[in-house]
Amino acid sequence: MIHLKFNYKNVLSFISDTKIQSYQDEIDQQYKTLFNKTGEGSDFLGWIDLPDNTSEDLIRNIERLAESLRQKSEVVVVVGIGGSYLGSRAVIEALNHHFAQLKQDRKEPVILYAGQNISEDYMSDLLEILDKKEYSITVISKSGTTTEPAIAFRILKNHLEAKYGKEEAQKRIVAITDKGKGALKQLSSEEAYETFVVPDDVGGRYSVLTPVGLLPIAMAGYDIKALLNGAKRMKSHIKSDYSIAKNPVSAYAAVRNELYRIGKTTEIMVNYEPRLFYFTEWWKQLFGESEGKENKGIFPAGVGFTTDLHSMGQYIQEGLRNIFETVLSVESPNAALKVPVDNNNLDKLNYIAGMPIHKVNLQAEMGTTLAHLDGGVPNLQVTIPKINEEILGELIYFFEMACALSGYILGVNPFDQPGVEAYKKNMFALLGKPGFEKETEEIVKRLN
Ligand code: PA5
Repeated sequence: MIHLKFNYKNVLSFISDTKIQSYQDEIDQQYKTLFNKTGEGSDFLGWIDLPDNTSEDLIRNIERLAESLRQKSEVVVVVGIGGSYLGSRAVIEALNHHFAQLKQDRKEPVILYAGQNISEDYMSDLLEILDKKEYSITVISKSGTTTEPAIAFRILKNHLEAKYGKEEAQKRIVAITDKGKGALKQLSSEEAYETFVVPDDVGGRYSVLTPVGLLPIAMAGYDIKALLNGAKRMKSHIKSDYSIAKNPVSAYAAVRNELYRIGKTTEIMVNYEPRLFYFTEWWKQLFGESEGKENKGIFPAGVGFTTDLHSMGQYIQEGLRNIFETVLSVESPNAALKVPVDNNNLDKLNYIAGMPIHKVNLQAEMGTTLAHLDGGVPNLQVTIPKINEEILGELIYFFEMACALSGYILGVNPFDQPGVEAYKKNMFALLGKPGFEKETEEIVKRLN
């Protein structure tokens, strides 16, 4: 049994159940295409089997290395961008204490991130912190040549070597990259870094259950076996019954495609827990990069409520009616805290004194859903009982499979990302990268 529940009753005043059910034949067909690996992008379907195929040996190696780096690090800097960054951050931040960095009694290293931007100020501030901390680096890049992490790693490697000497620095660097090719692979061999492999058949945005995600998550002290078990449970649930009535992935894929066809071209992922902020970021990349091509695709956006009800709430309630929302709802918090009584009651809150804060949050969620429905915003609900490794594993696999299925229904290849090269070509031309002379000439003309 899975923990996740999917509810689409709040779209039925916008699209009919008959219409949703009419996707069943196509869904059955697309599952076959996926599981038989016969569709577009079939070279990148390795993620489907990760929950079953990740060996005990690999898990042990990851845990062993994570433990040894934890022992000697107050901070681990995870260097990577996009698919080599967002999955681990999504899980770590979902599980972490909100103020982990300030927690005096923490046993695990603080995980900091680099290589996900090209900000000089960000890197300078990071180095200032690292000057006074015992630290290690995990550098993640499948290609090994992505500009952002390459710049960050160059700087951090120099810093680490200057701080500890080359020999100790080599022991404090772990690289996760291609098994045989690329600059990072070559450097790792030369410097004898410990390495883990990004499988050939897993694209960045589907890589959280490979060492790309598992090592940082283990370093942060979380249970990667439980994460994989959750994904495994979701996989076997999906395979047991493809019907829209019983299979939440089928239902989600059908509903969002039908909403798109009636003009709901923006999907907003809504959470009411700040610790899910990066989960939404991961989801945005997964769906945006998978579906946004050939002038098609739902635009994936994200908000954190109730915070953003005080900013984006106005637009969602009354702006352009091309949106639907998918609420990631958490039934129970991990903590217990109630609204206190106040004898003066100046803020007039005594009517909810004694009420758990989470109950207030749930009423806000319910009230908002109804208001948005009244405002013409269809609402989907993905509900989980609480946040832990196993349930996050379910969620990850749920969204990965839904994304693959949705992309095939939309008629695109959900496993490539040709569009991300355009900015790189211009950037390289502007920076005068060797081999880009013609592009440099053209771009300079265009700018003058
Ligand atoms: O999903 C993707 O393919 C991208 O987000 C990449 O993961 C990202 O660009 C990082 O690439 P690499 O791991 O090669 O450095």
